[in-house]
Amino acid sequence: MDSLKNHDIPGRVTVFSGKGNLPAIRIQTETSEAEIYPHGAHVTAFQKKGEPPLLFMSGSSDFLPGKPIRGGVPVIFPWFGGREGHPAHGTARVTPWDLTNSMLLPNGSARLCFHLPCPEPANVEFIVTVGNSLTMEFVVTNTGNADFTFENCLHTYFQVGDIHTIEVAGLKGARYTDSLTTTQHVEEAESIRFTSETDRIYQDTTTTAEIRDPALGRSIFVRKSGSKSTVVWNPWIDKSKRMLDFGDDEWPHMVCVESGNVKENHITLAPGESSTLKVEIDSAPLGGSAG
Ligand code: BG6
Repeated sequence: MDSLKNHDIPGRVTVFSGKGNLPAIRIQTETSEAEIYPHGAHVTAFQKKGEPPLLFMSGSSDFLPGKPIRGGVPVIFPWFGGREGHPAHGTARVTPWDLTNSMLLPNGSARLCFHLPCPEPANVEFIVTVGNSLTMEFVVTNTGNADFTFENCLHTYFQVGDIHTIEVAGLKGARYTDSLTTTQHVEEAESIRFTSETDRIYQDTTTTAEIRDPALGRSIFVRKSGSKSTVVWNPWIDKSKRMLDFGDDEWPHMVCVESGNVKENHITLAPGESSTLKVEIDSAPLGGSAG
């Protein structure tokens, strides 16, 4: 905690004792606020002034060493999904990351840089920039002597007014696996609507996704680069009841639209090579477009 406090910037970056007594960092800018836990380098909140939060956080989430946080932006690495005998969605989200730097940018944004202590032959950094939008960069460099293969994903949970009335646009024409049936499809709809549990991995898609939310009167834009996969998930009624760290009644108010490189879109880096997965989250009144 004391070494973290060296990164305080008065009025802008504040280290405090967060939920479960885990260290946390609050970032305040002229236009927005965010919270980040070094546990998982996990962004748990991002809100623009005068607007409801963009990120959803479960009121039932654990805040415990070794357990993932439910909501915000889990960082998924080095694998996506289950792996026998290992934590689901990789180890990065349950590892305490090192905060290496905090700074203010000339445009008024604040930036935090994290480093992942990991056994992989790789240097792994996560750079979070908070301003008018939230920008996250996940950078992996292969420091070994052989190819390094991994999956990554920024598992963004978004707050929505009502899952029944939102639409997710930007995935028309993309090939996807329905993870509930393990069947393959091509997205035909102009925009996705939700009427039941939804769990899809869209492959070979690099486009911006737009979450149109009439109840909150806004669109959320998920712009990305260095990402070929988009995952869309809502657990609906029964799965919500099965998840111990998620409220039974929270599912209508969230949707995950995740950006990464998973399954056949996994990444292989040659020795010395780097990859950057970059995601920018922004919002605008419904019908407009973010700047
Ligand atoms: C999504 C997966 O990315 O994450 C879902 O597609 C999974 O299948 C969800 O249920 C949540 O995973 P976890 O490990 O955080 O409960």
